[in-house]
Amino acid sequence: MVDSQTDVLKGLENVPIKYTSLSSIDGQQGKLYYVGYAIEDLVEHSSYEEVCFLLLNRRLPTRDELQRYEGSFRRERELPNDVFGFLKKFPRDAPLISVLRAGVDLLALYDEEVEKTDPARNHSIAIRIISRMATLLAASYRLKQGLDPVPPAPDLQHAANFLYMATGRRPTPLESRIMDVAFILHAEHELPASTTAALVVASTLSDLYSAVSAGIGALKGPLHGGANERALEMLFAIGDPDKAEQYINAELAAKRRIMGFGHRVYKSFDPRALIFKNYLKKLADVKSDWTLLRTAEKVEELMVAKMKDKSIFPNIDLYSGPVFHLLGLNREIFTPIFAVARAVGWIAHVLEYWEDNRLIRPRAVYNGPPPRQYVPLDQR
Ligand SMILES: CC(C)(COP(=O)(O)OP(=O)(O)OC[C@H]1O[C@@H](n2cnc3c(N)ncnc32)[C@H](O)[C@@H]1OP(=O)(O)O)[C@@H](O)C(=O)NCCC(=O)NCCS
Repeated sequence: MVDSQTDVLKGLENVPIKYTSLSSIDGQQGKLYYVGYAIEDLVEHSSYEEVCFLLLNRRLPTRDELQRYEGSFRRERELPNDVFGFLKKFPRDAPLISVLRAGVDLLALYDEEVEKTDPARNHSIAIRIISRMATLLAASYRLKQGLDPVPPAPDLQHAANFLYMATGRRPTPLESRIMDVAFILHAEHELPASTTAALVVASTLSDLYSAVSAGIGALKGPLHGGANERALEMLFAIGDPDKAEQYINAELAAKRRIMGFGHRVYKSFDPRALIFKNYLKKLADVKSDWTLLRTAEKVEELMVAKMKDKSIFPNIDLYSGPVFHLLGLNREIFTPIFAVARAVGWIAHVLEYWEDNRLIRPRAVYNGPPPRQYVPLDQR
């Protein structure tokens, strides 16, 4: 038994549980790096496929390698026919993130390589999971709306193809670029709850699909991936920048959290929020629709003024929701998009952890009753 005087590290806050060369976050300066490359540079120069290569190989690809890699993504886009059959039977009102989780578990049943955990196979399983999850999500999203799934477009890259399969409309170059940026920004973020959940599962030497499924379960919650939908709901509820102050004051007075703000690690601006804001501006200009942008900016201004003493700043979710909305996507798909883009981060951490695996098995400090006499049911 653990000594009852032992301090409990609630929420595992600031507890390091692994070494990583995948990403580093400077929470004070608001900096994020994937394998040493600044997120701003990756967004500017890379594609999502290139970032996947970087995270899974821990180096940037050559041109030839990237071309082959993009080909592997394309080859893995189709779903097994049986999986479509099951997707059609899923309840229409089930949350899309739960459909995605169930769908990933289904994909595992149709992957003959799933139980063969040798490093060479893990890499091809990883690409299969990442690529198929996008098709799975787009198809489920359309089925939920009573629409037919759209087959993948061979000429489009991963993120643009996802947007096309979800909306049924070919994205403009700007829309394709923004979707790619959104995928890159969501690809990896050290050890949030979802990656930790994936690691806990993988540390038992379970399979990659189980780890991804656990990651999706953890991401679903409003304190993690679910905040983007709620942040957009908030912006709609405010409706107009002039009404932001009254809304924020009322929420804070009621001790409610403002979605899209605060972070366990960032104690300044989340760099992903700034990048998203920039792309939201471009999109708002093209669509001549600035209400969400202006409302979000007003909320940001008010919150930073009120909460900077507590180091509460905008996080990625404040601006991702408005971007997805202007790309023509419904709120229910926001968190699932986060999952589809983050799958690479979960898998990269699992593969890195397996290089020196240790079963994750923490302890609890017991504070219940001392050993006592059992009372049979009919005497209670
Ligand atoms: C992300 C989050 C869970 C991190 O929180 P954390 O590290 O556990 O921080 P704490 O819960 O200890 O909060 C510290 C203080 O800031 C306040 N705070 C944190 N986030 C806040 C928010 N979004 N709105 C208002 N107040 C907030 C807390 O109420 C607390 O105040 P107190 O010290 O007076 O009690 C939290 O900021 C949050 O709930 N944000 C909203 C959801 C969200 O946007 N999630 C996406 C994360 S990428």
